[in-house]
Amino acid sequence: MPPATEPDSLSALEALRREVEACTLCDLHKTRTRAVFGEGDPRARLMFVGEAPGYHEDQQGRPFVGAAGKLLEELLGAIGLTREQVFIANVLKSRPPNNRDPQPGEIEACQPYLWRQIALIEPRVICTLGNFATKLLSGDPITGITKVHGKPQRRELGGHAVTLYPIFHPAAALYTPAMLTTLREDFARLPALLADESVAEPPVPPSAAEPVVSPSAAEPPSAAEPVVPPSAAEPAVSSSVAEQLGLF
Ligand code: URA
Repeated sequence: MPPATEPDSLSALEALRREVEACTLCDLHKTRTRAVFGEGDPRARLMFVGEAPGYHEDQQGRPFVGAAGKLLEELLGAIGLTREQVFIANVLKSRPPNNRDPQPGEIEACQPYLWRQIALIEPRVICTLGNFATKLLSGDPITGITKVHGKPQRRELGGHAVTLYPIFHPAAALYTPAMLTTLREDFARLPALLADESVAEPPVPPSAAEPVVSPSAAEPPSAAEPVVPPSAAEPAVSSSVAEQLGLF
């Protein structure tokens, strides 16, 4: 079959958006306000994958629009990019109640949408934010973000070779200055990675990199933003609370 033309893949992405917005594959559809498909440049070379929508994302139907999103935009600005120039998505497209961890069955149900997004957008570099996205896209459900952050890996995802680049989740870095420093340092390597995708390890075949992965029972808790009452501004959470939440 000939490769999809650009208009083909754009309309396929729009069709996928409608499918996600109507999705009832897991129980999260019963409690969400809006599904969050993701947004940005449909032909972006750089794609970010977070964990799941939080309160603000659920309200607005857009990814990373709360405090973590503001930090992500600031980090992008530091490397000369805007959110419109990248594509931002999540492992889960619907908010887990009270921002609890994604459950294995929810990841299982939702992951085909992410694989299809990757196949249609064809990013060259995929930056995973935190544990859930990293474990799913690396195909390694054991090794946590603390060990692999800042280390580019070559993978075959969505049918083509990409550089997978795991970094800390911005929501975690919000509460821990040392982690924010590391996140800034890891982020600063992105332009070089985009310029030279061969900096990473050799590719891993799709069978290893695209498993139907359920994170282990020992999966660390959520990196989504903490629960925010509708009226409140972004929450102030101490770093000890963030640690208990398993943000890192
Ligand atoms: N955290 C995420 O992982 N995704 C969002 O969209 C917002 C916060």
